[in-house]
Amino acid sequence: MSQAKVLVLHGPNLNLLGTRQPEIYGHETLDDINNRLYEKAAFNGWEAKALQSNHEGALIDAIHAARLDGTAAIIINPAAYTHTSVAILDALNAFDGKVIEVHLSNVHKRESFRHHSYVSLRADGVIAGLGSQGYLAALDALIKAADA
Ligand code: DQA
Repeated sequence: MSQAKVLVLHGPNLNLLGTRQPEIYGHETLDDINNRLYEKAAFNGWEAKALQSNHEGALIDAIHAARLDGTAAIIINPAAYTHTSVAILDALNAFDGKVIEVHLSNVHKRESFRHHSYVSLRADGVIAGLGSQGYLAALDALIKAADA
């Protein structure tokens, strides 16, 4: 598949990356991460579009839009909504493409309320604890699966 579109969704508080608890989330900013994803996508003939929102409904609207605009896959870090949002799960269940869930931190090593993910009930793959590399690994997996 060439020129495939991937939507990268970042949930609440991820706009603060770089300054938010850097011992957990690292020193890179969201722009740093998105720019690396854009570069990798373009290099492989893919089109990446990233969106961050602190609002559940905005993330859901973006998933709905992805159903209609030919988006092949969604990479999503739902942040705290991971652990609370049946609404994001429902929206992803209405999306036909691949879904990869990414967490910068290893949520399983942290508080028990972070161990459960609604989004994992839909995700085709889950990456946690690899920092920003997790997003690139997710994109790599999508590109390789599409070429296989
Ligand atoms: C996170 C983990 C979540 O538990 C947390 O609420 C976040 C970020 C991560 O990327 O490690 O905001 O999704």
